[in-house]
Amino acid sequence: MKIFKIYSEYARAYHEMYQSIFDYEEEFKIYDKYLSKIKAKKILELGCGSGNMAKLFIKNKYDYIGLDCSKEMIALSKEFVPKGKFLLGDMRNLELEETFDAVLVTGRTFTHMTTNHDVMFALNSIHEVLNHEGWLIFDNFDASIIFTDFRETSQNKTMFENRKYLRLSETSFDFNHGWTWKWKSHYEVIEEEKKEEFEDEITLRAFTEDELRLFLSINGFKVCNMEKSANAILTVAQKINEEKTNAQNIYFKQKLNDISET
Ligand SMILES: C[S@@+](CC[C@H](N)C(=O)[O-])C[C@H]1O[C@@H](n2cnc3c(N)ncnc32)[C@H](O)[C@@H]1O
Repeated sequence: MKIFKIYSEYARAYHEMYQSIFDYEEEFKIYDKYLSKIKAKKILELGCGSGNMAKLFIKNKYDYIGLDCSKEMIALSKEFVPKGKFLLGDMRNLELEETFDAVLVTGRTFTHMTTNHDVMFALNSIHEVLNHEGWLIFDNFDASIIFTDFRETSQNKTMFENRKYLRLSETSFDFNHGWTWKWKSHYEVIEEEKKEEFEDEITLRAFTEDELRLFLSINGFKVCNMEKSANAILTVAQKINEEKTNAQNIYFKQKLNDISET
């Protein structure tokens, strides 16, 4: 699979920039609120990145495993959270022996499930690693906001220790696989007199509420809550059947091992 530069050779730059782009403490509080309510203890975080949430889950006594498809991100997680358990893997094809009370897909990671096949494989895989009546909690970009207030250019300036980061972004509609868009970024990292530059190009996907409900329902989940904030939707869904749904049986009979390379 293709792993974007910002998650692989520049994973440390991602980690440093996102310390001031995401508010991990706030994000943790939201997940913790739902996990406490549903009494989930054993959790799997998909797209764990460099372990920012892992640190907080472990500190708060969750029985935690983090998984990411980037070996550089997994190496950073192990460096920053030595007590954590981290696995390299693809959320579209989870091959785990254990099952979990809840699976979390944090930090808009599900935005990388750009094709309907990706979404079907990921939800089916998550369904398989959940305990009876287990929970899926994940956040997604809200298509109804992203595409009605579409920004073609944007800039981010952040600072970490003595490094200055500048990201210049250009975005354009893609629409090849649903509510998708292309995001081209030019990065500059300035440290003392040295400047390093690199480019990345990513396709991202947003979902409407109805799309999320439909994908979840045909993969054996019931939506229990949808919380909207800014340009995102946080969905809390529960696994409602052990057996595959009719749609899953039909789909996976035809599509076994057909995961896109994007
Ligand atoms: C936007 S980052 C979020 C990272 C972390 N959750 C955070 O909030 O900082 C997305 C992460 O998902 C990972 N990722 C993308 N596609 C994946 C897949 N198919 N399976 C597992 N991880 C994936 C990337 O390597 C990256 O670390």
